[in-house]
Amino acid sequence: MAKILCVIFILVTSVHDCEGDLRFASYYGDHMVLQKSPESAVLWGYGPEGDQLTVTLSGPLQQKSAMVNVTKGIWRVTLDPVEAGGPYNVTAAVQSSTVTLTDVLFGDIWLCGGQSNMWLQTSKIFNASEELDLAAKYPHVRTFMAALKLSETEQTDLIEVELPWSVPPENVAEFSAVCWLFGRYLYKTLQYPIGLVESCWGGTPVEAWSSSRALKQCGLQQTNSGPKVNSVLWNSMIHPLLNMTIKGAIWYQGEANADYHQEQYSCSFPAMIDDWRMAFHQGSGGQTALNFPFGFVQLSTYEKGSESDSFPNIRWHQTADRGFVPNPRMHKTFMAVALDLPDATSPFGTIHPRDKQDVAYRLTLGARAVAYNEKDVSFQGPFPKIIHSAHEFINITYDQKVSVTPSKDVFEICCAGIQTPCGPQSSWVPAPIMHWGPTTVQLSTSLCQLTDKVAALRYAWRDWPCDFKACPIYSASGILPAPPFITNRSQIKGN
Ligand SMILES: *[C@@H]1O[C@H](CO)[C@@H](O)[C@H](O)[C@H]1NC(C)=O
Ligand SMILES: *[C@@H]1O[C@H](CO)[C@@H](O)[C@H](O)[C@H]1NC(C)=O
Ligand SMILES: *[C@@H]1O[C@H](CO)[C@@H](O)[C@H](O)[C@H]1NC(C)=O
Ligand SMILES: *[C@@H]1O[C@H](CO)[C@@H](O)[C@H](O)[C@H]1NC(C)=O
Ligand SMILES: *[C@@H]1O[C@H](CO)[C@@H](O)[C@H](O)[C@H]1NC(C)=O
Repeated sequence: MAKILCVIFILVTSVHDCEGDLRFASYYGDHMVLQKSPESAVLWGYGPEGDQLTVTLSGPLQQKSAMVNVTKGIWRVTLDPVEAGGPYNVTAAVQSSTVTLTDVLFGDIWLCGGQSNMWLQTSKIFNASEELDLAAKYPHVRTFMAALKLSETEQTDLIEVELPWSVPPENVAEFSAVCWLFGRYLYKTLQYPIGLVESCWGGTPVEAWSSSRALKQCGLQQTNSGPKVNSVLWNSMIHPLLNMTIKGAIWYQGEANADYHQEQYSCSFPAMIDDWRMAFHQGSGGQTALNFPFGFVQLSTYEKGSESDSFPNIRWHQTADRGFVPNPRMHKTFMAVALDLPDATSPFGTIHPRDKQDVAYRLTLGARAVAYNEKDVSFQGPFPKIIHSAHEFINITYDQKVSVTPSKDVFEICCAGIQTPCGPQSSWVPAPIMHWGPTTVQLSTSLCQLTDKVAALRYAWRDWPCDFKACPIYSASGILPAPPFITNRSQIKGN
């Protein structure tokens, strides 16, 4: 009888503590992926207080025992490391009952977070029907999605599950396109199971996903409202996941900070990454790496012809104002540059470009290089190594070979007297590309008046700097766009 009441209780209130009944936490389920070796998977759930519990893994047989906590009715075990593979069953048993997870695979777990561009479903992107047809060929890339819930306090478990662990093609249409494609492309190189955990919410600023610890680092203690309140999504959609062992995370967010605490984003974003790393490491009892790889998408485009520099500023702040990652402030990170993928006719608004394939592919290159240490995988677009100013020219030497399409105005210079600093309000004029070599680009500075000196240089410093895949500078392969940059006088030699 107690059990029947409990089931009814669960149906009515969704995932909630149902004391005494043996079960796994909300995000463990049939068809799931658990983190493979060398890390160990952590499993936890609820059970009759004080009972002795045993967890058994079929296949590479192992058993772990634990006591269900007397006061909280929670149990937790850490398996020995398991190599990639499956399907296996995982059974938890107490004296009076057992629960089994079937069709469990071991592989790498990636968490996918952010706002609406991460949330945008596979059914909405370019070539959606082809993508959905292909999905059936990837039954070892499994998906899970947390429901959109907020909380004023840190939750132990998810308040609700939106999509349980699923075997493609089931639920792929409703699943994040960037997350799905990232997993599918990764699977192509790794050839072992990938578990994708989507936990994101449209229109939300980084503050909502950050713990109070992280916000304090950046002096961000004010609050907002709804899902924008500090820490409300950290509390409900991230904190509950901390105990699961993960391989890494990808993130697509920043639009909501273009006009909200924009200047603090170079602090708040890296601070959130640091804090997630510390918290996942702790929550998993040391299984999730303390410096787990964190990939993100640099903002794409929003308003064609916009004079606003809020998107350029956020793109820059996404790199902690360095222009590229990884860098000394942001270790073990990778970035997909996306400002060359505008979509002027997106039915979901121009802020939601539908080419998610290139975004995910670029992220995968970063993951292969940074997370999987594959040598010889290029993942960063060209970045200036030396900037030289002389006479009527600026010479840029890049850190790699470049593929150049001449442009009149994607490079810009700020001309100012020697003592005058350059800011957003300064007069920026185009610096057309005149010549180029395998690793160099020469710009004309003739639009500076004779008495002025070039005080600063910037590249693609516009919300919408180029047409689709038509920015001036790419890697020699033509695949990786140069990220935007801005330099001041001190970084320009010969001035
Ligand atoms: C049970 O949980 C409480 C509260 O978190 C904790 O203080 C206690 O140490 C736990 N008991 C055991 C046996 O782990
Ligand atoms: C897992 O459990 C299912 C259902 O109980 C059973 O049919 C299957 O044979 C089990 N698989 C393994 C690998 O034990
Ligand atoms: C999960 O991790 C959090 C944060 O480290 C910890 O407070 C909590 O007790 C853990 N829960 C379980 C069930 O182990
Ligand atoms: C969509 O499919 C066409 C035809 O295969 C291809 O040329 C195009 O690049 C695809 N678009 C994306 C965004 O993948
Ligand atoms: C700039 O590059 C041109 C060739 O592209 C070269 O002739 C010139 O010497 C360079 N100037 C400086 C200051 O590096």
